[in-house]
Amino acid sequence: MTVPTPSPVAFSPVAHPLRRLHVVTWGCQMNVYDSTRMADVLAPLGYGPAASVEDADMVILNTCHIREHATEKLFSELGRLRRVKDARRAAGARMLLAVAGCVAQAEGAEILRRAPYVDIVLGPQTYHRLPEMIAEAERAGRAVVDTEFPPESKFDHLPEAALPGGGATAFLAIQEGCDKFCSFCVVPYTRGVEASRPAAAVLAEARALVAAGAREITLLGQNVNAWHGEAPSGGAWTLARLLRALAEIPGLTRLRYTTSHPRDMDDELIAAHGELPALMPFLHLPVQSGADRILSAMNRRHTAADYRRIVERLRHARPDIALSSDFIVGYPGETAADFAATLTLAREIGFAQAYSFKYSPRPGTPAASAADQIPEREKEARLATLQDLLATQQRDFNARQVGRRLAVLITGRGRHPGQIAGRSPYLQAVHLAAPETLIGREIAVTIAAAGPRSLAGAWHPSPEEHAAA
Ligand code: SAH
Ligand code: SF4
Ligand code: F3S
Repeated sequence: MTVPTPSPVAFSPVAHPLRRLHVVTWGCQMNVYDSTRMADVLAPLGYGPAASVEDADMVILNTCHIREHATEKLFSELGRLRRVKDARRAAGARMLLAVAGCVAQAEGAEILRRAPYVDIVLGPQTYHRLPEMIAEAERAGRAVVDTEFPPESKFDHLPEAALPGGGATAFLAIQEGCDKFCSFCVVPYTRGVEASRPAAAVLAEARALVAAGAREITLLGQNVNAWHGEAPSGGAWTLARLLRALAEIPGLTRLRYTTSHPRDMDDELIAAHGELPALMPFLHLPVQSGADRILSAMNRRHTAADYRRIVERLRHARPDIALSSDFIVGYPGETAADFAATLTLAREIGFAQAYSFKYSPRPGTPAASAADQIPEREKEARLATLQDLLATQQRDFNARQVGRRLAVLITGRGRHPGQIAGRSPYLQAVHLAAPETLIGREIAVTIAAAGPRSLAGAWHPSPEEHAAA
């Protein structure tokens, strides 16, 4: 569920911002969601979007710790920002610099040792306290670090999200943290224990998002299908039950959830894929490896056969479901035969898209101290082989859409003038020439051509549709 490139956050505009905020986001969708929520927390203080970093009174770097290069990126970006901060100071302006997210949680005050010009370091669980941290940093003139796992939930202290004018698609965090402790992964340490938001809070936020223009909501969690939140009338709900309730919200036509763990794909959730038309036929279900010895060493607590069975049952419930996954190659002790088993599994399942990574030792995780680390060159060779296969599968899957009419949710302008863009039910990007007035609507698009990562389509409206557009 990673977003590979840093992206400036889109947040609700403040009419006349007193101060300008620039947020850079790395990592998973949860970080993208957190960035918008940090902007929501700061809006009442008069912060609105900055046109550029140079123009910002405050910069927040929302970081990811999942692989080594993610951490390196932070320090190179900080070096660049230091020069911007100095230039602003020379011109008589200030710039508060905050490091948030999973590197902040893992490294804490160590960040200040390497980058003493940082003003605020805050973990993913404390961003509701940002206004106090800013006040303290400004008053005391020294850095503030808050990487606690506080007893109160940040979700109870955030302003209502989603001012009018939000996009057609939105993220909604329903679960956070992880108790699975896969032996390669930092998430249980940076995000803390598994916690589920109550159903009523999720439903209220979903209604607010729909009122602001969202037609598609993606429920987020590090282990989203482990969600078991308090039900509105007491007791607990499962994710399948929550999805059923969300599907009843008028105007909410598309639902997705990510990231799921194979162990928590229960019967009710699999059945929901066959029962709820709003639940999109696309599921990101990380498998990591196709070899049982490696899955066991990774502490995944499922076998390759378990994964195949889940996919079979999902396809039985929803025959057109498209699958995505995460793979790690070169996990300590992975033999050529283990890697071959991963290729076999990928070939058998046939993924619509997938992410694959070289194993990256993370300090403090059990796998990092394993003796049988795989040489870098071998990891690179395996990754290239797997990525070739996965790219071919994605191209084939895209090519199979040509000639079909797909429901496309139009999310914004396209790459070229006169073009608009949206997403298919299978989460493919679709570009087409059609009026911008269609942004925010779901329309039937005939797919004319397929590229490696996107589709091109044509809209043939009926006279009524044409008039309405
Ligand atoms: N909660 C999700 C994934 C979270 S991290 C799950 O259970 O699958 C996203 C992906 O990053 C993982 O699925 C894994 O493929 C990859 N990843 C995590 N730690 C890694 C590491 N140390 N080295 C390489 N890839 C890693
Ligand atoms: Fe990491 Fe495993 Fe938890 Fe996913 S399930 S977040 S890979 S520890
Ligand atoms: Fe990265 Fe933290 Fe997400 S480590 S992948 S930002 S949970």
